[in-house]
Amino acid sequence: MRVLGIETSCDETGVAIYDSNAGLLAHVLHSQVETHADFGGVVPELASRDHVRKTLPLIKEALAEAGLERDRIDGVAYTAGPGLVGALLVGAAVGRSLAWAWGVPAVPVHHMEGHLLAPMLEENGPAFPFVALLASGGHTQLVEVRGVGRYEVLGDSLDDAAGEAFDKTAKLLGLPYPGGPELARLAALGDPDRYRFPRPMTDRPGLDFSFSGLKTFALNCLHAELPENHSLDEQAARQTRADIARAFEEAVVDTLAIKCRRAVRQTGCKTLVLAGGVSANKRLRGRIREVLDKEGGRAFYPRPQFCTDNGAMIAYAGWRRLAAGQSEPLRFNADPRWKLEALPPA
Ligand code: KG4
Ligand code: ZN
Repeated sequence: MRVLGIETSCDETGVAIYDSNAGLLAHVLHSQVETHADFGGVVPELASRDHVRKTLPLIKEALAEAGLERDRIDGVAYTAGPGLVGALLVGAAVGRSLAWAWGVPAVPVHHMEGHLLAPMLEENGPAFPFVALLASGGHTQLVEVRGVGRYEVLGDSLDDAAGEAFDKTAKLLGLPYPGGPELARLAALGDPDRYRFPRPMTDRPGLDFSFSGLKTFALNCLHAELPENHSLDEQAARQTRADIARAFEEAVVDTLAIKCRRAVRQTGCKTLVLAGGVSANKRLRGRIREVLDKEGGRAFYPRPQFCTDNGAMIAYAGWRRLAAGQSEPLRFNADPRWKLEALPPA
């Protein structure tokens, strides 16, 4: 079975074709970074309009890359939530309409289920059951995964998601959007021993997260070290910002690692999957691998380009659901607040 996957939940238009025998045949992506850069963040209306412009051309490009005519597609999967509703509706409308025109089934895919299953796109990917750390711009969740749609959320973010905390702290440090990868680059130049930030919620039991205090901690540190009338030269000021970025990154990575170890011990499940945009972070990938090695388990993560939003994970998750006989009737919907726990097992 060959499935066309369409991702338009936020600021990336992703399209891919997954073949259940041959694996991934094509994946193409258009990032809207330039569209939103001047605004310092995603402008929902601009995002929707850009998806309208890009989705069909990218579908043509993916078909060409795979060397396929459209009549070789057996199903269409599109992200139906969570995300920006206008952006979601573009992919949903295009996906559902194409499926109707081509006479094939269509399936709505939960964006976080896409992230969760993305490591399975890799050769020698993980097998169920596993524990997943989903860390993206909108979510930080620890999930026990027993199969497709068999999810138990063990821990959740009480305020800012990890990616959101990266983005907001990056902004404080004067870095451009998208902040996460920029902050990670700056942190690489920082001294890990100059500042120590707290590890929120690690001193009490449980698997929930709270990252908004870290952003405030970074702000206070920045104001104390670099007040408006500071006398440091440009080089020394840049080093201070890099040291703050490093302390922030260390704190987020350490906190996530502590909770992952706790989740592995609590569930007895020694396979851990790391997914979502923040899982592209090198320091996090390294730290989680160390934790799992020590626990006698194994960590899996997607290749960096499939950590952030992409069409491949949607095509793959869509195939898993279509293969289980699930599809949508002719109506379609998008749900900006779709809950992972509401999914049926496949
Ligand atoms: O999964 P994703 O592409 O979109 C959402 O579903 O939210 O995740 C985007 C988030 C952003 O907050 C971005 O700053 C963060 O992932 N991110 C990173 C890195 N790459 C992306 N955070 C830290 N380090 C990175 N290398
Ligand atoms: Zn995402």
